[in-house]
Amino acid sequence: MKAAFITEPGPADSIQVAEQPDPTPGPGQVLIRVYASAVNPIDTYIRSGAIAMDLPQPFVPGCDAAGVVESVGLGVKGFAIGDRVWCTNQGLLGRQGTLAELITVDEGWVFKLPEPVPYEDAAACALVGVTAHLGLFREAQLTPGESILIIGGSGGVGSMVVQMAAAKGARVITTAGSEAKAQVCRDLGAEEVILYKEESIAEKTKAFAPDGVNVFWETRREPDFDTAVDLLAGRGRMVLMAGRDARPAFPVGPFYVKECSLHGFVMFKASPTEMKTAAEDISDWLASGKLSANISARFTLEQAAQAHALQESATLEDSSQLAGKIIVNLNTESLP
Ligand SMILES: NC(=O)c1ccc[n+]([C@@H]2O[C@H](COP(=O)([O-])OP(=O)(O)OC[C@H]3O[C@@H](n4cnc5c(N)ncnc54)[C@H](OP(=O)(O)O)[C@@H]3O)[C@@H](O)[C@H]2O)c1
Repeated sequence: MKAAFITEPGPADSIQVAEQPDPTPGPGQVLIRVYASAVNPIDTYIRSGAIAMDLPQPFVPGCDAAGVVESVGLGVKGFAIGDRVWCTNQGLLGRQGTLAELITVDEGWVFKLPEPVPYEDAAACALVGVTAHLGLFREAQLTPGESILIIGGSGGVGSMVVQMAAAKGARVITTAGSEAKAQVCRDLGAEEVILYKEESIAEKTKAFAPDGVNVFWETRREPDFDTAVDLLAGRGRMVLMAGRDARPAFPVGPFYVKECSLHGFVMFKASPTEMKTAAEDISDWLASGKLSANISARFTLEQAAQAHALQESATLEDSSQLAGKIIVNLNTESLP
């Protein structure tokens, strides 16, 4: 099989694509023929060494994949050869990743993919969908009728948060860096969009929710707590999931006097049960059309380095080229 891999952390062009031995599923593992993989910012942090993790040698990056079960290891009960599946949480904590034609994944991280859903849609909604689900429902406990401000509504995570919050019956206001991205956000279910490069986030949010928003979802790597606490309603919840090196000022007094709460989390620390709860909703919502993929760019496996470079420039240099997920298509000649 062909795979994209690195032999040591480095820049995007240190990714090589070459033949590698086919993996064999161990006990409790599923062997998947991958048709689509997605790129996430964390793939680039691990590949570059910005986040140090134990890496198998060579290391295949990638958290997300969708494809078909090729074989199963001893003791696998939930999956059979030929099942359409998706997975996330790979390429992390010593596990091999998903930028390979064949991957082995522990059964607990694999989920059924309903028949009408395209492989690339499932891959595009995998890590970001689980992240949105955990943040909205396990952490912020969003309820129908509440209001939510999402910074970055057309991004990978943001586009999932917008759709899930709107589907829950919340009122959604979000930000976008261009009119084209604003239209993406409206199509996903946002009631109001702030063109943050020319409009004030604070003014538009106060007009939208004069008593404050119930939830503030921050996707930037430099969170702005002064604005967030100012815009939150009493007992408002702020979701925080980006910006490992950020050390911003924090308005302690206004925060506790308003009885706000702060919810930080990383999706890859969710238990298999928590991830399954999110994944089952994601599969159902993809099948019913309640959730749709927001794909911005597509690459082949041979272009894996380009896919990483694009994600990196969007995340670290704010290049504005992306308006959704990056997909890598694999095994296209045998796509069923
Ligand atoms: N904790 C976790 O479990 C977890 C999970 C997934 C991701 N993350 C992290 O979350 C962050 C976002 O991930 P992603 O996959 O959604 O990335 P992404 O697809 O690149 O999206 C980034 C978003 O940020 C917006 N943005 C950038 N600069 C902005 C600014 N100055 N003001 C307002 N919006 C701005 C962009 O909107 P415009 O293009 O409209 O400017 C875009 O929508 C990354 O740092 C990632 O590492 C954490």
